[in-house]
Amino acid sequence: ANVQKIAYRANILFFNEDPYFKETQEDALTFYKDGLLVLDLEKGTVIEAGNYEEMRAKHASVLISEEYKDKLIMPGFIDCHTHYPQTEMICSFASSLVNWLNTYTFPTEEQFKDINYAKKISQFYLNELLKNGTTTALVFATIHPESVAALFDEAIRLNMRIITGKTMMNRNAPEFLQDTVEGSYRDSLDLIQSYHNVGRCLYSITPRFAPTSTQDQLNVAGQLKHQFPDTYIHTHLNENLQEVDWVKSLFPESENYLDVYDKSNLVHKHSVFAHCVHCTQPELDKMKQIQCGVAYCPTSNGFLGAGMFPYHQAVQNGINFGMGTDVGGGTDFGMLRTLQDAYKFIMVSQQHVENRRPMTSFEGFYRATLGGCKALSLEHKIGKFLPGYEADFVVLDWCVNDIQRLRFENIEKRASTTQQSTATSESLKLSTIKPGDDKYLLQDKLFGLMMMGDSNNVYSTH
Ligand code: GUN
Ligand code: ZN
Repeated sequence: ANVQKIAYRANILFFNEDPYFKETQEDALTFYKDGLLVLDLEKGTVIEAGNYEEMRAKHASVLISEEYKDKLIMPGFIDCHTHYPQTEMICSFASSLVNWLNTYTFPTEEQFKDINYAKKISQFYLNELLKNGTTTALVFATIHPESVAALFDEAIRLNMRIITGKTMMNRNAPEFLQDTVEGSYRDSLDLIQSYHNVGRCLYSITPRFAPTSTQDQLNVAGQLKHQFPDTYIHTHLNENLQEVDWVKSLFPESENYLDVYDKSNLVHKHSVFAHCVHCTQPELDKMKQIQCGVAYCPTSNGFLGAGMFPYHQAVQNGINFGMGTDVGGGTDFGMLRTLQDAYKFIMVSQQHVENRRPMTSFEGFYRATLGGCKALSLEHKIGKFLPGYEADFVVLDWCVNDIQRLRFENIEKRASTTQQSTATSESLKLSTIKPGDDKYLLQDKLFGLMMMGDSNNVYSTH
């Protein structure tokens, strides 16, 4: 067969595993300084990635679409938790989660009863994701089935891998945003049949969180999961202390917050829990055992005052987590800004630790790509440039302004005098990568990009 090939030449990076436990973190990734990413144009999949010269010889007929000498290609970013209806109210001032929900969120979400508004925001929202290099997201809609249909339709038009579902919410919310046990079941069922596994769409059964559903409604959500075992569950868990107390008083017979969901058949491998800032050890043990997904949402955890996600504890307990923006509780649509907040909170959370272990740039970009794919159980389809993988990728500029360029030159200048990578902390082994290796200085350059970059560094998203 005559396969139509297209290729992109650039610095090419992808992760094969979590760098956290590697003695030399570079061993967790593949990087080609002068690389060629060869794609099957018709299928939209990866044929292979490799060194430019080698790939050029092997794929002699390939059309090189773009040559980016100084740009970086990596798998598209994964947003493991976000709310598209909250797009227009991002960064609204409030003293607590509940005040914020009542004052801004619920009135904004009411607008999605209007399909035309839902379509307009769907377009705006997915475009915003693409401008930030995000190619896959697990997204909250509203209780209105129209809000789900609008987002899926736009995702199909853009051929994006999007997971969403109808919010189920039948108490502790304004009348105009409540559904019923039967209605939420029927609407969810219809949407699963219309959209789940259609194109690249996947359905998530979505009770907002335990306080806004009765036990009956949570049970119906669990029943849907039983009927459609390959759908997702998407909800919030242990975001802040007031919420945890509230859940305790609403479900006194449950051992902990996760147990509320578990009792309704909602804790599975394809379940994704947003926040998980205040999990107890039994909850962590359960999450490790199930390997469900968790979304770490640092910009939101800071903005709404939820608390600090226990990054090291989560990694060391084998929790399967990726990054989430949690727009509009989160303050930015993109993964670069999200990683900046993660880095800082991880530093602050170790204020009393003598031998701090910062989150390295490799760990950060791993979480924003392959780590997120794993949290969404999609790591066999996206997140690597291996043969057959879906070819979602982002082209990043290392530097887009004067200070980024100056900083970048500083890395190369310092390297020529010290002969050693510097982004490795005292508590980690020094990088053994030597000058001449493709991966030399990669950690330092990625650290600059992670800490200084934003959507302006996203050149294009494919
Ligand atoms: N918990 C329940 N609903 C929400 C929401 O919309 N945002 C956040 N951050 N937490 C929630
Ligand atoms: Zn949320």
